[in-house]
Amino acid sequence: MLDQSRTWTPWQPWQEWGGRPTPIEGAEIRWASNLINLDDARAALWGGAEPEDARMSVVWDEQHARMSVVRGEQDTQTSVVWGANDAQMSVVRGAKILVLGSGNGSNFEALVKTLRPYGVECIGLFCDRAGALILSRAQRLGVRCVEPPPPQEWDKRTLNDAVTGFLEQQSFDLALLAGYMRVLPPRVVRPFSGKIVNIHPSILPDYPGLDAIRRAYLAKEAWVGVSVHLVDEGVDEGPILSQGRIPRHDGESLDSLESRVHRIEHTLYPWTVLALLAQRRCARRNDLGGES
Ligand code: GAR
Repeated sequence: MLDQSRTWTPWQPWQEWGGRPTPIEGAEIRWASNLINLDDARAALWGGAEPEDARMSVVWDEQHARMSVVRGEQDTQTSVVWGANDAQMSVVRGAKILVLGSGNGSNFEALVKTLRPYGVECIGLFCDRAGALILSRAQRLGVRCVEPPPPQEWDKRTLNDAVTGFLEQQSFDLALLAGYMRVLPPRVVRPFSGKIVNIHPSILPDYPGLDAIRRAYLAKEAWVGVSVHLVDEGVDEGPILSQGRIPRHDGESLDSLESRVHRIEHTLYPWTVLALLAQRRCARRNDLGGES
């Protein structure tokens, strides 16, 4: 999906959760070019035909890597897809996501907090590790959790059956891997093809697998970053939806680099999910001939 030759664009996103908005300094971003379809966006806003007197248009703001609704002749940007209360984003209202995670859960929390105001609900969390911090975050956020059977009672097969059961139990729009540190086998992934998304802390295809930030750091990479991608049957493989990157600072510690990479994750992941949900829902609406 992502054309690897696609250029990086400067990125000044605003974190919408956890207090005051903060720009992410020096970050750059690139998107799969088909992630947002402007015709679909117009259809979502005006049910197909744009009214003659609307004097509004939807533009893809390449420079800021965001989609904006522009009103009037002075190109006043009244709202952006990624901002709160945007007309186009009403299309995602009612979408349901599931999350699978193993550990800390900071991406899970960012997803829940950012998506909730748009009416996107997290209807369940699957965690493969009893006592993981992600479980207490879920409790605090009011998200239903599914824990696997105690480790002495499962082998890989039983655990993956539990994942399949979790995915089959409820209808959902997207299942999001947020630090889920096991490889899902083809028999789990195949029935949900195109509906499972992962975030990985590297500029894929570089550094798939464990300990990605540390390996990029030790290799003295000038840029480090994150990728959001659809999950297929490989490890950290599948069509890339978006990537964000930051330049490494001279003499920077691994801890500092890691925390900057996580900040990118916490913004890029929810935004990409919103874009993907919007794209799919608009496409479905068009297929139904404009019905909602
Ligand atoms: C995140 O950095 C995520 O990208 C990574 O695990 C971390 C989980 O942190 N995922 C992978 O490495 C997947 N191969 P979190 O639990 O605080 O969200």
